[in-house]
Amino acid sequence: MESNNKNLNNNQTSISYKPLKDKNIIFALTGSIAVFKAIDFIRKLKGLGAEVFPIMTKGARKFITPLTVSALCGHKIKEFFLEDQDPDISHIKLSKEADIVLVAPASANFIAKAATGICDEILYAVLLATRAPVIIAPAMNSFMFTHPITQANLETLKRLGYTIVESPVGDMACGSKGPGRLASWEIIKEEILKSICEQTLQDKNILITAGPTREPIDPIRFISNRSSGKMGFELARVARRRGAKVHLVVGPVSLEPPYGVKIYKIETASQMLDTVLSLLPKMDIIVMAAAVADFTPSFYNEKKIKKGQNVNKLTIDLVKTPDILLEISKRKKEEQIVVGFCAETEDLKDNAVKKLKNKRLDLIIANDVTRAGSGFDVDTNEVLIIDKNESILHLPLLSKIEVSEKIWDKIESLL
Ligand code: CTP
Repeated sequence: MESNNKNLNNNQTSISYKPLKDKNIIFALTGSIAVFKAIDFIRKLKGLGAEVFPIMTKGARKFITPLTVSALCGHKIKEFFLEDQDPDISHIKLSKEADIVLVAPASANFIAKAATGICDEILYAVLLATRAPVIIAPAMNSFMFTHPITQANLETLKRLGYTIVESPVGDMACGSKGPGRLASWEIIKEEILKSICEQTLQDKNILITAGPTREPIDPIRFISNRSSGKMGFELARVARRRGAKVHLVVGPVSLEPPYGVKIYKIETASQMLDTVLSLLPKMDIIVMAAAVADFTPSFYNEKKIKKGQNVNKLTIDLVKTPDILLEISKRKKEEQIVVGFCAETEDLKDNAVKKLKNKRLDLIIANDVTRAGSGFDVDTNEVLIIDKNESILHLPLLSKIEVSEKIWDKIESLL
């Protein structure tokens, strides 16, 4: 038990990722019962490095106290026209210094006022004065949410360039079920990070593969590998944040799928090949991060293979799977960019260059899975990015999301 824990600690090198470092976020809470959930967003925003400046409408103060919010943010709640106010009027100063305005939860009353420009509380003045991206996460009863007036107000806000976070369907505090719930942190986080990202991949169609494939032996058993899908999922997240339309072809993994990308679930290498080839003609960039099984059983047993008495050995005949990257390269159009991955345990650079050439790739991302923090199922990676001219960029051990950002920077330099 002890040695297992030791391994875990060695492999789970934690590298903090602070994409909101040096960013000022105005976090506005309005009158909705979901405000109790939004309290946790303060900790999450600070965890990503943000400085969080709170605003609470009169409605929000009926549900939770300003003391709780200001204590968690480490800043006083901003107020409108205080007697002892700084001559540099506070809502204007605040609006100018903001990098993002987040309204979560956004009540029906807030949405209606914001859509008409009513300005009777500091939040509405900030909205009119700021030129920072505004992200609004509605939360209300589903009848109120689906009412044509609320929907029309949301349309108005969208037209004005505000990001309206998708409201999921689910159980409501009032006992009913429907849309109008506050979105999860994962979704709100993705919208925040997209809002501050340059849209360098705007409207590009991108195909990413992730995770392992699973090659069945019988109804109970299969051959697979240790890929978790994390690297491919982070690549998908970053591409979506930069404006791409992401198609993610994924083998069996236990991760929550990234928000805002189209998912195609497959199991075997041959299913992955079919899906990838059907998507290929419309794609601008293809990134094969999946760990495709190289061999599959030549024969599938419809019934469970029994152990049998006096049988001490079982041989499973394996045949090669199609090399998906090679098939892509054979069919690819001149302008399409194809990126491969390469997981090795020795001779990393030489093996990677061989694969780059044999599979006719534009780039290959190589990692040595025996190095601490670069193996399977960890949140970090240390990679080489090698291009067609064999020029090598060595990235130190970074979180997989940062590795993804660097990979996309390199891919964008080829566009
Ligand atoms: N790949 C593929 N189809 C396969 C096997 C691999 O498209 N049947 C892709 C992987 O997604 C990866 C790249 O090829 O992008 C390299 O995969 P890797 O497993 O490192 O190498 P292999 O080509 O399988 O060669 P080897 O097993 O000899 O290292």
